[in-house]
Amino acid sequence: MSDDIYDETHAALNRLVGRHHNNPLGDAAFPLLRRLARGTGMLQVLDVGSGRGASSRWWAARGARVTALEPSPAMRAESGARAVAEGVATAIDHAAGGLEALDPDRRFDIALALDVLCYLPDPAGALRTIVDSLAPDGLLCVTDYHGRVQRAEVAAVTAAWGIRPPPTFDAFRATLERLPVNVLFHVDTTRQYRAHWRAVAAALERQTMDAVAIAGTDAVARFANQVRSIEAAIATGEFGHSWAILEVKP
Ligand SMILES: C[S@@+](CC[C@H](N)C(=O)[O-])C[C@H]1O[C@@H](n2cnc3c(N)ncnc32)[C@H](O)[C@@H]1O
Repeated sequence: MSDDIYDETHAALNRLVGRHHNNPLGDAAFPLLRRLARGTGMLQVLDVGSGRGASSRWWAARGARVTALEPSPAMRAESGARAVAEGVATAIDHAAGGLEALDPDRRFDIALALDVLCYLPDPAGALRTIVDSLAPDGLLCVTDYHGRVQRAEVAAVTAAWGIRPPPTFDAFRATLERLPVNVLFHVDTTRQYRAHWRAVAAALERQTMDAVAIAGTDAVARFANQVRSIEAAIATGEFGHSWAILEVKP
C-alpha cells in the first residue's frame, strides 16, 4: 500500500534532504510542455499522483488551474500547506483521492503522470483514463520506472517501495503506442535518475542524526534501504527511468 510509504515521515525526511519532486526530472520538463500546449486561455492541468505538490505549484505559479489527485492524506497536507505558503492555494484543487477521484466529465490541456503508474493496479488502463480526460489538443507528460523484474535487485526495489513489477523500456513504449496518441518522444532518463538518488543518499548520510531525531531509527533505516535498493538496481544496468510526452491524435 503506497499510503504506508507516503506518510508524514516520508514528507519529513524529504523536507530534511531538500527533495521536492519524487521524479528525477523535477521541473525540467515543464517549460517545453508549456511551449507545446496549444490551449488558449487558462491552462487546465491534471496532476495524477501529485505527491508533495511541487509540480502542481509550478503550473499554478504560471497561471494554470490545477487538479491534483493524490490519495495520501499526508502528501495532500504537505502540498496544501506549501501551496498556501507560496500564494497559489486558490489555483490548485486537491481532490480527496487518487486517479479514482477523477471527474470523467472534466477535460484538461495537460496531464502529468510522474512516477505514479508503478503504484496503480492497471497502468495501461490508467493511462487510457488519463488520455480520455484530455482536450483535443491535449498533452500527457509521463515518467516512470522500467526494468527487468527477474533481476533480484529489481525485485528488491518493488518490495522496498510496494510497487508493481516494472515493465521493460520496450514494453512500456509498446503500451504508450497502443494509446490513441502521438508519442512525441520517449527517452531514457536513467542518468538523471541515478544523479537524483545519489544526491538523496548523500544528503541522508550527511544528516543521519537529524533524520533519526525527526523520524526515528526504523523510519530512517527503511528510507535508507529504499534509496539503496534503487541505487543497486540501477547499477545492474537493468533498471532505470524514462520520460515521454504524448499528444492526443488530432
Ligand atoms: C513516487 S510519488 C510521485 C509524486 C509526484 N508525482 C512527483 O513526481 O514528485 C508517487 C505518488 O503516487 C501516489 N499514488 C499512489 N496511488 C495512487 C493512485 N491510485 N492515484 C493517484 N496517485 C497515487 C502516492 O501517494 C505518491 O504520492
